[in-house]
Amino acid sequence: MAKMWEGRTSADTSQIADDFNSSIRVDSRMYKADITGSMAHAAMLGECGIIPVSEADQIIDGLEGILADIESGALQIDPDAEDIHMFVEDVLTKRIGDAGKRLHTARSRNDQVTLDLRMHLRDDIDGILSGMRSLIEAILEIAGDNKMTVMPGYTHLQRAQPVTFAHHLMAYAMMFTRDIDRLICSKKRMNVSPIGCCALAGTTYPTNRRKESEALGFDDICLNSLDGVSDRDYVIELVSDLAILMMHLSRLSEEIILWSSWEFRFVQLSDAFTTGSSIMPQKKNSDMAELVRGKTGRVYGHLMGLLTVMKGIPLAYNKDMQEDKEAVFDAVDTVKACLDVFAPMIATMQVLPQNMMKAAQEGFINATDVADYLVRKGLPFRSAYKISGRLVSKCIDEGKVLETLTLDEYREFSELFDEDIYDAVDLTNCTMRRISEGGTSPESFDKQKEFVLNAIKDLK
Ligand code: ARG
Repeated sequence: MAKMWEGRTSADTSQIADDFNSSIRVDSRMYKADITGSMAHAAMLGECGIIPVSEADQIIDGLEGILADIESGALQIDPDAEDIHMFVEDVLTKRIGDAGKRLHTARSRNDQVTLDLRMHLRDDIDGILSGMRSLIEAILEIAGDNKMTVMPGYTHLQRAQPVTFAHHLMAYAMMFTRDIDRLICSKKRMNVSPIGCCALAGTTYPTNRRKESEALGFDDICLNSLDGVSDRDYVIELVSDLAILMMHLSRLSEEIILWSSWEFRFVQLSDAFTTGSSIMPQKKNSDMAELVRGKTGRVYGHLMGLLTVMKGIPLAYNKDMQEDKEAVFDAVDTVKACLDVFAPMIATMQVLPQNMMKAAQEGFINATDVADYLVRKGLPFRSAYKISGRLVSKCIDEGKVLETLTLDEYREFSELFDEDIYDAVDLTNCTMRRISEGGTSPESFDKQKEFVLNAIKDLK
């Protein structure tokens, strides 16, 4: 196939090589960024007197037409083109003639591709942030309804101390808030323009990089042309943010899967977000949560893939870097799809507080509160801890729980026990009274909610 870069070599590359080289299947999604970037470039070339203003206007009109036609479906992106940049330029030249050939003055595909990718990904980040907002809103909603719902908190997956379901969910809201913060920071670092770095060394044309970049909404420009065309930190940084985000989603998925099991029965997912088994009629499977957990692996894989692609590349552009897009786009698509399913899945989840309370009552998770009670009566914590441990042993031997031991039984272990022990071991009291900042009390929930709401308030 004839190539625009024909010159030094003939264009007679083999079909196999053309297919192998082509990235249009992956990068066609950047058509809007590519066209918008080219419009700003043409305008800059005209303003700086590098090409005649009339031809710059012709280019801009032509590009506007191409964008409109792609969006309306009147123009199909050619799957045999080399990449989206060549496709757009080729169509432009066919439509407007010689003026189209002036567009690629004072730039190269090397700065063009990374410009397009930065523009495309910053919009993707906005999309992910809005998905995160919906997820956090869904969490706040259920958490708000469960400020008083007592459940066992676990360490080592052993029942440890009582917490509220709200407190447990808010731990995830905190993680997602940090994810949001990371994405915002990454977007800021990403929003620096490489256009005008040209192939690798800048240009002798009197360009105005800053004006062009400002027109495209960038905060700054890359100050070293070699770095500008060969930096893919912003891609790796985004995918690492996404890998952490997926790790959080995966942990929550794992909990939802456990909670939905008959062994826990803490929640029941809506039929709309579960599947049945083809053979076992009683089954209701948490496939969505399992898929989110499973898809975490692909995002981690893309992170490792990208780090490995970049690790041995000498400056500046090398074709290896074309591999960046497939990885980052799949990571972005995966995260978006997971967020799309996750927010409604948890919003429609039925919480079963009685089962949570029952589990909380069975695990002696108020044993620490017995020890704390004795400490309040003057005993050193270590001695109190021993007495509480012996009481738990007695309960296990005799099939009792701390709430139902008689006062006489308590007193066999320490004279310090009084009627008020029952108030101290009441599971709801145990959670509501953990008033230390960040603890399980309702006041603490309110503070966390305020913090999280503040983090999402400016997100679309
Ligand atoms: N499709 C290429 C990519 O994604 C565009 C850059 C090509 N530059 C070059 N010098 N061949 O990386």
